[in-house]
Amino acid sequence: MTDHKIPLAGVIGHPIAHSRSPLVHRHWLKTYGLPGDYVALDVRESDLEDVIRTLPKMGFVGVNITIPHKVAILDIADIVTDRATLIGAANTLIFRKDGKIHADNTDGYGFIANLRQGAPGWKPSTGPAAVLGAGGAARAVIASLIDAGTTEILLSNRTRPKAEALKSEFGSKVSVIDWVQAGNMLEEATTVVNTTSLGMTGAAEFRVPLDGLRRGAVVTDLVYAPLRTKLLEAADAAGCVTVDGLGMLLHQAVPGFERWFGVRPEVDAATRAAVLE
Ligand code: ATR
Repeated sequence: MTDHKIPLAGVIGHPIAHSRSPLVHRHWLKTYGLPGDYVALDVRESDLEDVIRTLPKMGFVGVNITIPHKVAILDIADIVTDRATLIGAANTLIFRKDGKIHADNTDGYGFIANLRQGAPGWKPSTGPAAVLGAGGAARAVIASLIDAGTTEILLSNRTRPKAEALKSEFGSKVSVIDWVQAGNMLEEATTVVNTTSLGMTGAAEFRVPLDGLRRGAVVTDLVYAPLRTKLLEAADAAGCVTVDGLGMLLHQAVPGFERWFGVRPEVDAATRAAVLE
């Protein structure tokens, strides 16, 4: 009988009202004519495990996990993929038929898929990647850049010890540059990534000097509100190839949707429009 239930998925966070994930998944469900639904669930950390254990009994096939639960979920899941362990966080759960909860991290996949779609000529191995920021998003970015073949990562963060900690985890491919010198690392970089919240609507302004940006470098900003950030505007003016951060949000949703609903969805102009509406 269970197989005839309408599959449900969702996103768990606290707060959650801002999440655009329901727009993405509902757009795909409609586009592909699939039965199912995707809802936003506001859950406090003290209730997280109870909720996670209850959802499969209610017809949920899996959920996305967002702030602030992406780290805590690793202790609740029964199976954690190697890449989620490496990144130290999970964002996608699959409720398996045998009752086990499987946790994966698709942020790195989403980051790389977005770059490949937005900058088709991008070659990870042509030169160093400059990464600004050393928070949770930076961990996924660094892991996936190394996995994609980048051999040198220049990492700069306002709080230097957090960058040093990432270097000690990810190894000799990572070099730490002082935050006041962050602009200098752009001169060599063929890939530039902002993983900080700088430049986001309502956050502090992006003030890293950008005159070192190289013509032809691929520049991406994880900030997608606004869509065209100051970094991307400056990179465009410097002759770089720019990729906005909205695509990462869309691409990271692909593996979960495919596992839960059985169709691998396309990230196209209509998907972007659905999220921007
Ligand atoms: P996320 O999971 O999105 O990476 P996070 O873990 O809170 O979020 O990390 C936010 C990043 O933005 C950090 O690198 C943070 O720098 P610190 O480690 O020094 O806090 C960076 N960031 C936030 N506000 C900043 C500011 N005003 N100036 C410089 N960096 C800032």
